[in-house]
Amino acid sequence: DKGNHKHFMAKEIHEQPEVVGHTLAHYIDMVGERVALPGKLPFDWTKLKRLSISACGTAFYAGLVAKYWFERFAKLPVEIDIASEFRYRGAPLEEGDLALFISQSGETADTLATLRYAKEMKQHVLSVVNVTTSTIARESDVVMPTLAGPEIGVASTKAFTCQLSVLACLALAAGRARGHLSETDEKNLVRALIAVPRLMSQALALEPQIEKLSHDLAKVKDVLYLGRGTSFPIALEGALKLKEISYIHAEGYAAGELKHGPIALIDETMPVIVIAPHDRVFEKTVSNMQEVAARGGKIILVTDPKGAKEATIESLETLMLPEMASTVTPLVYAIPVQLMAYHTAAAIGTDVDQPRNLAKSVTVE
Ligand code: M6R
Repeated sequence: DKGNHKHFMAKEIHEQPEVVGHTLAHYIDMVGERVALPGKLPFDWTKLKRLSISACGTAFYAGLVAKYWFERFAKLPVEIDIASEFRYRGAPLEEGDLALFISQSGETADTLATLRYAKEMKQHVLSVVNVTTSTIARESDVVMPTLAGPEIGVASTKAFTCQLSVLACLALAAGRARGHLSETDEKNLVRALIAVPRLMSQALALEPQIEKLSHDLAKVKDVLYLGRGTSFPIALEGALKLKEISYIHAEGYAAGELKHGPIALIDETMPVIVIAPHDRVFEKTVSNMQEVAARGGKIILVTDPKGAKEATIESLETLMLPEMASTVTPLVYAIPVQLMAYHTAAAIGTDVDQPRNLAKSVTVE
């Protein structure tokens, strides 16, 4: 049932404040403002030397965000690779380390094969899945469910932000156990997470502006997405969403890579979507935007009031989100990129929920 929405994807985008709220409530003691993982872990965070993360597509981008979090909060070295590469690389994994798999369906063939490889390599296997009866869930030592509810649209939306919610809680739990987060740090970070559903509702309020803007995006041939830090995976996710459902060619890049190639693409016809909350790498991203502006690129800036004030760049359009703790920006900034893809595809008239050539669950390699 699509409710009042035209497509499942629209419904699922709008469900995010609610399902992210549910998911967070499953992993957080709301009264004590602490992370409280359901169940006991069969490994000790302090004994781990390395965390290996593997997934495909959007789930892989959730893992990429988690890498920043695990390294920052828990000082745990993270290796991450797409499952189709990980499974054949023969990566040496030290016995007793942790392997983490992320999958909405829990049936993705490459992710499952990598999980089996990790087991052979005597890793503890933890999975973050949306379908708890799935093969990946069954074959894992521990399962941390996302409570997104069934996701029907082929383009993943609410599963992604629920994955980020679980991964943030896991990274905080690891940080606490490994002695890198004080009680106050944890409280502040947990409060920031608790604020996410409300911030997401504010992000959804940008929809009329995004819909208007998407009529112009619908006419272009290529789009570039840029971001730094945890906004880099959101740039990748934005580009994937757009190409999946609108069939417009899009690329996501780490803003710092611009000079190393993609800047050659920039001209007056090229929209460049810059994901740039006012965080510790903001100024660096501004200098990349200047390089784009100097070549006539059309910048669509997704930022907050502080960022908009300091950007001092002629952007075609600014999408303004509220200020928030930098840890939670990937969860909230995911929404405008999802809406841009959705409305662009809707303007073109493609089959948003069942885009050509794609399957919801990729059970063959
Ligand atoms: O079910 P999974 O999370 O394992 O699926 C992984 C990818 O196939 C999936 O995220 C795909 O990239 C989506 N169509 C993205 O919107």
